[in-house]
Amino acid sequence: MELVENDTAIITGAASGIGRTTAKTFANHGASVVVADVDEDGGADTVAAITENGGDATFVRTDVSDPTSVQETIETAVDEYGGLDVLFNNAAIEGPVARLEEYDDDAFEQVIDVNLKGVWYGMKYGIEAMLADDGGSIISASSIGGEVAVPQYSGYGAAKAAVGQLTKYAAIEYAEDGIRANAVAPGIVRTEMIERTIDEHPEMEEQFQNTEPMPGLADPEEIANAVLFLGSNLSSRVTGVTLPVEGGYLAQ
Ligand SMILES: NC(=O)c1ccc[n+]([C@@H]2O[C@H](COP(=O)([O-])OP(=O)(O)OC[C@H]3O[C@@H](n4cnc5c(N)ncnc54)[C@H](O)[C@@H]3O)[C@@H](O)[C@H]2O)c1
Repeated sequence: MELVENDTAIITGAASGIGRTTAKTFANHGASVVVADVDEDGGADTVAAITENGGDATFVRTDVSDPTSVQETIETAVDEYGGLDVLFNNAAIEGPVARLEEYDDDAFEQVIDVNLKGVWYGMKYGIEAMLADDGGSIISASSIGGEVAVPQYSGYGAAKAAVGQLTKYAAIEYAEDGIRANAVAPGIVRTEMIERTIDEHPEMEEQFQNTEPMPGLADPEEIANAVLFLGSNLSSRVTGVTLPVEGGYLAQ
């Protein structure tokens, strides 16, 4: 079933992990995908994987922490494909793993710039494009760390909590304009982000394996499918929610 047939979807952070898998999933379901990332090589690999499979994708170098860059990417998508239907604000950095008093000030700012301001710019310019067309669906990547405190992730968690709140504002302010805004809150997903953390802090691997009540780590496909639901008409009456995709972690 092609759930997003003829839609245009911008996916930030699509050079890796959840973003790349979501880009492939949307392309498999009929969308034209704009792969937006700072990583040009990874972005090219995502585009190649989609086009080799008969899908439609373009890479646009995008730094989500730079409003001009976000605006230009959205303009490119609209110019190239005639509109914007889905925006997945997925790009983020993990930042330091450190307790609050040891958390570096510059790193905190960087985490806020990418993980919070990046989502804000995406919403701001994405909504502008969707208002000019016939609405659309915005999905943003939150985390279990945005719902409850996960020790040593204060900057990351604060940004993710704010993503949930921005999602509610966007949902309420544009409910009459055909624009829906939702978020997903993954638990621990097998991606490059988690691999980097395990490389730096090998002691955390066992903790990650045992975080979710369901055994092991999530596969990126399990998050991508939730994003596909929120990006398609299957969720036509769903707006303002942060959907947990975390094997039951938040139910405890
Ligand atoms: N992996 C997990 O366990 C997990 C858990 C909860 C939430 N998340 C969230 O899911 C999303 C994707 O995470 P992932 O695990 O796939 O990470 P990842 O590190 O594998 O991929 C992140 C991508 O974002 C890109 N990126 C970083 N800074 C950018 C910027 N300024 N502008 C544009 N692109 C930028 C990177 O180049 C990379 O391609 C993130 O928002 C993350 O916080 C991940």
